Amino acid sequence: MHELANKIKCGDCIKILAKTSEPFADLIFADPPFNIGYEYDKYDDRVAKDEYVKWTKKWMSACVQVLKPNGSFYVAIGDEYVANVKLIAEDELKLHMRNWIIWHYTFGQQAKTKFARAHTHILYFVKDKDNFIFNDSVSRVFSDRQTIYNDKRANPDGKLPDDVWNEFPRVCGTFEERTGWHPCQMPESVLARIIRASSDPGQLVLDPFSGSGTTCVVAHKLNRFYTGIEISGEYTKASRTRINKSESLPVEGEGPAEWNSHLKVELKWLYHENKVSTEQLDDSPYLLALFTSKFNQRAGRKTHMFTPENIRKKLRQLRKSGKLGPMVRKTTQSR
Ligand SMILES: C[S@@+](CC[C@H](N)C(=O)[O-])C[C@H]1O[C@@H](n2cnc3c(N)ncnc32)[C@H](O)[C@@H]1O
Repeated sequence: MHELANKIKCGDCIKILAKTSEPFADLIFADPPFNIGYEYDKYDDRVAKDEYVKWTKKWMSACVQVLKPNGSFYVAIGDEYVANVKLIAEDELKLHMRNWIIWHYTFGQQAKTKFARAHTHILYFVKDKDNFIFNDSVSRVFSDRQTIYNDKRANPDGKLPDDVWNEFPRVCGTFEERTGWHPCQMPESVLARIIRASSDPGQLVLDPFSGSGTTCVVAHKLNRFYTGIEISGEYTKASRTRINKSESLPVEGEGPAEWNSHLKVELKWLYHENKVSTEQLDDSPYLLALFTSKFNQRAGRKTHMFTPENIRKKLRQLRKSGKLGPMVRKTTQSR
């Protein structure tokens, strides 16, 4: 096991990563400060543009040094610097871009004199364009053919999500998930999609700007090793506590089909990703069976599987107690 495995280190990611000579990360997710004046306790998020771009180059290249040859690198970034990140990654660090993902969130901030911003860019790169991990089967969601058109030609395994992700709301103040002590916590569900797709259980996920510890928590829940780096002592301490409180999912195929808090979270993630309502699942045994099979796959179940009735009951309970959250509806778009 690498010396940084399952640790959240306090310090400057550039300095800490420079001390590591061997590539050790299978997947890196970086959500740096966007230089838009957010109030962090230690970092000043308002620096001159050229200084910010130079710094971006430094931390990105420190990350590339520790990324394994078949590793993946995701960067979340705002409109202001997304072009710089793309050019640095491709032209200077010789990475290959696989997707330009738009995370379109609900609960964006309202504006008075222009259209409200409701997205973050997530650029997805790999070191080697022919050798990387992409786990197709655990990333799939229902297709419209399955949920709307009831089309017999639908692939029963569903489809891979599009590159516009609109099923994950931002973590608002009222959400149970909200830590309350970090200004820009990412939703666990966004990280779960990335970690499932681009790493395998037992691999190591690095977050050089770990903040509230979301990446590390999700990596831990999904049975990956994690390394977080955070410059603030307070955030580091609080995120270590957050990790300790998060119990991991049962080992693959072990344990009875009983609900624990993480399986409930998994169920909520799957429900929101697939955008099928509980009414739809009640009405269609076919959708419920598909949903159940996807859930068992996500929970790593090969034995002691959850039944459709287990799933239906739990979803009903969560809905009744208000813990399922509002469903982001599918919209039919036209130009
Ligand atoms: C956008 S936040 C990350 C939020 C995180 N994704 C989450 O879900 O909580 C950026 C974090 O980077 C930290 N930071 C800023 N400069 C840093 C550096 N040089 N090394 C490590 N962390 C740094 C800030 O303190 C802040 O917590």
